[in-house]
Amino acid sequence: MSDSTATERQRKRSQRLSHQGLHRTSIVFHSGCRELLQDVKPYLLDPGLGRQLLTLIALAAPPAPINVAQVAQLSPLRYPGGKTWLVPEIKAWLRGLPRAPKNFVEPFAGGAIVGLSVAAEQLAEHVWLVEKDPAVAAVWRLLVAGTDAEAETLFALIADFPMDAANVARVLDAYPRTPAEAAFKTIVLNRVNRGGILAPGASRMKNGENGRGLRSRWYPETLVKRMRAIRLLRARLSFAEGDAFAAITRFRRDARAAWFIDPPYTASRSSAGKRLYTFSEVDHERLFAELAACAGPVLMTYDETDEVLALARRHDFKVRRVPMKTTHHEVKNELLLTKA
Ligand SMILES: C[S@@+](CC[C@H](N)C(=O)[O-])C[C@H]1O[C@@H](n2cnc3c(N)ncnc32)[C@H](O)[C@@H]1O
Repeated sequence: MSDSTATERQRKRSQRLSHQGLHRTSIVFHSGCRELLQDVKPYLLDPGLGRQLLTLIALAAPPAPINVAQVAQLSPLRYPGGKTWLVPEIKAWLRGLPRAPKNFVEPFAGGAIVGLSVAAEQLAEHVWLVEKDPAVAAVWRLLVAGTDAEAETLFALIADFPMDAANVARVLDAYPRTPAEAAFKTIVLNRVNRGGILAPGASRMKNGENGRGLRSRWYPETLVKRMRAIRLLRARLSFAEGDAFAAITRFRRDARAAWFIDPPYTASRSSAGKRLYTFSEVDHERLFAELAACAGPVLMTYDETDEVLALARRHDFKVRRVPMKTTHHEVKNELLLTKA
C-alpha cells in the first residue's frame, strides 16, 4: 500500500471518529503507568463513563482529617445524630439483599451521608433524599438541582468568607435573597454552632478546637471539594423538601425501593432528639405501621428504649444492637431494625 493511500485512510478514519465526537491527541505518561492507561481508555471514549471517573477521582482526593473510622466524608454538613459511623453496616445490609435496589429512599436525610455513600458507590440506581427542615433543604436543593452558576456562587461565598464573629453575625442576620445565599447561611450556622445543631436555641461555639474559636470547624477548601463531588453525583440523586410520609406514600408499592430511616429520636420522653432538630416531632407509631406495609426492604435506626422495642415487636421488625461511641466517648447501643 502506498504512503498516500495509508494517509488518506487515516484521514477518513479520523473524520469518521470526529463525527462520533472522538478525537486523537497525544499525551505524556510515565512507563510505570502503561497499564493504567489501558484501564482508563474505555472511560475516555464515553462521556457518561468519563463523568463517573471524575466522580471517583474527586472522592479519592483526601478530604479534611477523617475521624470516623475509614469512611469517606462526603457530606458538607456536620450533623447531630449523623450516621457516618453506620455507613459500613448499611452497605453490608444493601449488599446482602436478594436483589440490588433500584431506588434508595432516605426520607429523613439530614446530613445525608448514607444516601451520598450509596450514590457514590452505585449501590442503587437512584437515591431519593427528603428533608423537612427548609434550612437543610436549601443546601441539598442547590447541590442536587441547582444550576452550575448557583453552585459556583455558593462555592465562591464559602471560599472568600472571612470567618469572624462580625461576618458570621452579618450572614446570620440577613435574609437570604438567592438559593446560594440560603445554602451559605445554613453552612455557616452549621459550622459555628456547637455540635452543628441548627435548631433554634443552639449555642455558638466559643473557644472551639485548639482555641481557634469560630474558625475551628471552618475548612472552606474541604467543603467546596465535597460539594463538587456531590455535584458530580447528581444524575443519581434527587432531593425533595417535604415530609417523610409523602415519600413513603410515593414509594410504598415499589418492591425495588430500599429504605433507610433515621428519624429524630423522640419515640420516648428520655430521648435526646428534641433539642437537636427544628422539626423533631414524628408520629413513630404511624412511621412503623407505614414502613411495615412497604413492599421493599427497610432499615431503621433508633436509640434503645422500651418504647422503640415495643414498636419493633408490634410491627414485626427484626432488632439488632450495634455498639457506638458517643461524642463523650461512652459506648452505647443503637438499634438496627430491619424488615425484608
Ligand atoms: C437523625 S436526623 C438524620 C441524620 C442523617 N441520617 C445523617 O446521617 O445526617 C433526622 C432528620 O429528619 C428531619 N425530619 C424531622 N421530621 C421530618 C419529617 N417529618 N420529614 C422529613 N424530615 C424530617 C430532621 O430535620 C433531621 O434532619
